[in-house]
Amino acid sequence: PGDNATVTDAVTPQPVLEPLTEAAIFLVVTVDDGGEEVARDLLADLSGLTRAVGFRALEDGLVCVAGIGADLWRRLDLGDPPSGLHPFREVAGRRHTAVGTPGDLMFHLRARRMDLCFELAALIAGRLAGAVTVVDEVQGFRYFDQRDLLGFVDGTENPTGAGAAAAVLSDEPGFEGGSYVIVQKYLHDMDAWNALSVEEQERVIGRRKLSDVELSDAEQPSNSHVALTTITDDDGEELEILRDNMPFGRPGAGEFGTYFIGYAAHPDVIEQMLVNMFVGRPPGNYDRILDFSVAVTGGLFYVPTVEFLDGIADPPTQTPAQTPATDGSLNVGSLKRSHA
Ligand code: HEM
Repeated sequence: PGDNATVTDAVTPQPVLEPLTEAAIFLVVTVDDGGEEVARDLLADLSGLTRAVGFRALEDGLVCVAGIGADLWRRLDLGDPPSGLHPFREVAGRRHTAVGTPGDLMFHLRARRMDLCFELAALIAGRLAGAVTVVDEVQGFRYFDQRDLLGFVDGTENPTGAGAAAAVLSDEPGFEGGSYVIVQKYLHDMDAWNALSVEEQERVIGRRKLSDVELSDAEQPSNSHVALTTITDDDGEELEILRDNMPFGRPGAGEFGTYFIGYAAHPDVIEQMLVNMFVGRPPGNYDRILDFSVAVTGGLFYVPTVEFLDGIADPPTQTPAQTPATDGSLNVGSLKRSHA
């Protein structure tokens, strides 16, 4: 009794496990040289900003997840990175390539209403103005019965409950409760897609279009999207990720897209799926969804815990040997604080 030593070990994951919503905004920025301290301060204030907007409409469930890229992790001097954090690895197949594109911070905003996402995105962008370059900004919307713009229900096989937590939360010592996220923005060739019969489309995806029922083993082509993204470990256990894809687009400009966003406890699971899709399993037997969808962005980010973000502006604990020389303005912020 009275021993509450474990209380200090508690970690709060960012809200990666929240369900799909009607609205989402995906914001990816690069941090300009000299913008590091502005970015650091924004990350420390993010949970407060999200509360400020979200509390005005609690029932509409505003959540925000922030991810940090490998390069920025080093520039912010955050210590040894988690084992899976590296720049997005491009996957070049014979026909299609999963490109990697710049990105230091990724913000995934979700709510039942776009105005909440919009308001928080505006606050984030305002705080970062002059310190970052916005490289991608996408407003995603719910399309009928959780369908993507290809017309298929998207998200059905997502893990739920304890299975979802196990799939997305890291147990690496020092990084417990963290997660990884891979994002890719896909644009669809709707004319080519709509030229297929519904039966052919079903063989591309691997599920029935109207009922969403999976094709039987006998009917399932080896190059369907479902076949190639179903992967197992050495014991035959299925390896899962959590997807929060959202449709987006501008019909007037002929733009029809899917914003792919996948969370996992380690990025190698998502990376294996990308190899299966783009290179093929076996090589050459690539995902037919790619003949109708081109990936125009790609990024990998680490999603630290809420406690980590809230404390990110605290003075870094530096041993004298690690204290950087005063070789420019970049160190001033942290030196000031650690000498205060
Ligand atoms: C399943 C759409 C990209 C991983 C599905 C399904 C649809 C779909 C309709 C079937 C229903 C479901 O279980 O959700 C799309 C579209 C994409 C895309 C339109 C972009 C053009 C990706 C990428 C990955 C991925 C890039 C991973 C790197 C998965 C997984 C499943 C799935 C793991 C579940 C497979 C199963 O266990 O049955 N996707 N997807 N998807 N997708 Fe995607």
